[in-house]
Amino acid sequence: MVKKESKEVKEKDGKSQEFKITPWEVKGEIDYEKLVKEFGVSKIDNKLLERIKKHTGELHPMLRRGLFFAHRDLNWLLDEYEKGNKFFLYTGRAPSGLIHIGHIFVWEFTKWLQDKFDVELWFQFPNEEKFLFKDISYEKVQEYLKDNMLDVIALGFDEKKTHFLIDTKHANLMYPEACKVAKKITFSMVKSSFGFDNEANIGEIFYTAMQAVPAFLPSVLKGKKIPCLIPHAVDQDPHFRLTRDILPKLGHYKPASIQCSFIPPLTGIAGKMDSSKEGAIFMTDSPEEVETKIKKYAFSGGQPTIAEHRQKGGNPDIDVSFQYLKMFFEPDDKKLQKIHDDYKSGKLLTSELKEILIEKINAFLKEHQKRRGQAEKQIEKFVLKD
Ligand code: TRP
Repeated sequence: MVKKESKEVKEKDGKSQEFKITPWEVKGEIDYEKLVKEFGVSKIDNKLLERIKKHTGELHPMLRRGLFFAHRDLNWLLDEYEKGNKFFLYTGRAPSGLIHIGHIFVWEFTKWLQDKFDVELWFQFPNEEKFLFKDISYEKVQEYLKDNMLDVIALGFDEKKTHFLIDTKHANLMYPEACKVAKKITFSMVKSSFGFDNEANIGEIFYTAMQAVPAFLPSVLKGKKIPCLIPHAVDQDPHFRLTRDILPKLGHYKPASIQCSFIPPLTGIAGKMDSSKEGAIFMTDSPEEVETKIKKYAFSGGQPTIAEHRQKGGNPDIDVSFQYLKMFFEPDDKKLQKIHDDYKSGKLLTSELKEILIEKINAFLKEHQKRRGQAEKQIEKFVLKD
């Protein structure tokens, strides 16, 4: 299926620099300033950070350090919260492969929100999405569904406040609501939102209606309007732009969102970590695999020789190992600053910086894998009873 370029940027020097973002493909170096304008999202400013901090007591590193950078209607959501109208969280995962560390950033942040605001989380597993959009069998997707649920559970969500929605399993609840959404969406609307052409299969064309449903299903089930906050990576915004247009027409609130930029692949700071690319770190990787991948693939902002590095220093802004520490793996601001300064001055070598990251990721994965090993018997408690 051919999809049109959703973003094209002409540089001043005449060189055409393209980046492309759809929920199914991210290509090129993303200009987030332009993206904010074109998507029409709002940037998270200091005033909003202070407002969040009033409720959470502290700010998650992903907020403090700007990984979550944009939102829709977060002030409205907090107005409602302050009036005693609690929201629920909604996020999701379309199974199509193993979970890697790029996936878990949003979910770690979602867990933090769940803990701080003491709210329910509805976690959608659209177990048809990737079958419809990618070259993968329906059966294979169902294997990944089970596997992926283990990783989500292992992140430690509160089982009493977390509900897994699986599109085909919960079709009895979801499909009637999806039809109500679908009736308000025309083919030309999905064409312009997602760049579909006439070769798109009709499952693809319908799919966004299914992804809209969890944003209001809890309201339907509980018989009252409940605000919804969706943490997601910015590439999912086209779905929720449509959702926000439609839901008021069905008598529901527009969902609010909080959006993060992409987690870069090991191989370079542009683009998005992706299982098909070299060197994604999977949740089930052994310590040796992590070490090999980071040593071999992690793009370095260091100099070609040690002598040169000592003299000129490294560039933490383009160094993937430093960026992973900044985004998640080193939450301590003072320690991070020291690593930054030492790397920039040349005191810290690339190999030493990589060692720091390897140790952090392996410590994290050790705990994760322990919990993952026990997650299977918990699946039933998380999957919504219908
Ligand atoms: N489409 C998402 C994916 O490809 C899955 C998803 C469903 C999702 N609902 C969501 C992601 C809500 C973020 C928020 O994995």
